[in-house]
Amino acid sequence: MRYLTFALTKGRLANKTLDLLEEIGITCEEMRDKDSRKLIFVNEELKLKFFLAKGPDVPTYVEYGAADIGVVGKDTIMEEGRKLYEVMDLGFGACRMCVCGPESAREVLNNNQLIRVATKYPNIAKDYFYNKKHQTVEIIKLNGSIELAPIVGLSEVIVDIVETGSTLRENGLKVLEEVCPLSARMVVNQISMKMEDERIRGLISRLREIV
Ligand code: PRP
Repeated sequence: MRYLTFALTKGRLANKTLDLLEEIGITCEEMRDKDSRKLIFVNEELKLKFFLAKGPDVPTYVEYGAADIGVVGKDTIMEEGRKLYEVMDLGFGACRMCVCGPESAREVLNNNQLIRVATKYPNIAKDYFYNKKHQTVEIIKLNGSIELAPIVGLSEVIVDIVETGSTLRENGLKVLEEVCPLSARMVVNQISMKMEDERIRGLISRLREIV
């Protein structure tokens, strides 16, 4: 039997994924060790392999078939636009993609003015403003701490993830519009879905029972 390979998103999502897999009897204890620098883990008994990758790289590994299955946030799936099957909402990692800014930005946002939008997700921001709202904006790509942008005057608003809302609150910003809800998803390589149909469907149906 060939190995089924999982690409997991390093960090909280990977831990939650391991919790979920444990519930259906799939364990990978070695992977829990935080001090380990090891990148790939094997469950010989079940013929499974697991590796950790940066979120935006997970859809890449899955599209190319280096991983059969991936677990990654919907935000990353939308941003990367890779060819893969999204087969399941795993429920955890729930949050929202929002347009945020100071209350004073609400007016410029509504008046269809040419505003600047800072974001880690330029493709999601483009799709939202151009295709859904038919509003021309200037998109500025940043790599983190996006909330800084409207505070220091880089942009009027941001497109970013809101989970508890505390980052916004502590920085005097608000949710002005909601783009879409987000959560962790299971994705599958298109060829693996055909070649490993039985094993992958079995896995999905066992997960469906507990999610
Ligand atoms: C994310 C997101 C927000 C924050 C939202 O950032 O970009 O900044 O979490 O969470 P909250 O609503 O619970 O405050 P993350 O911590 O992943 O790091 P980043 O700033 O480097 O993107």
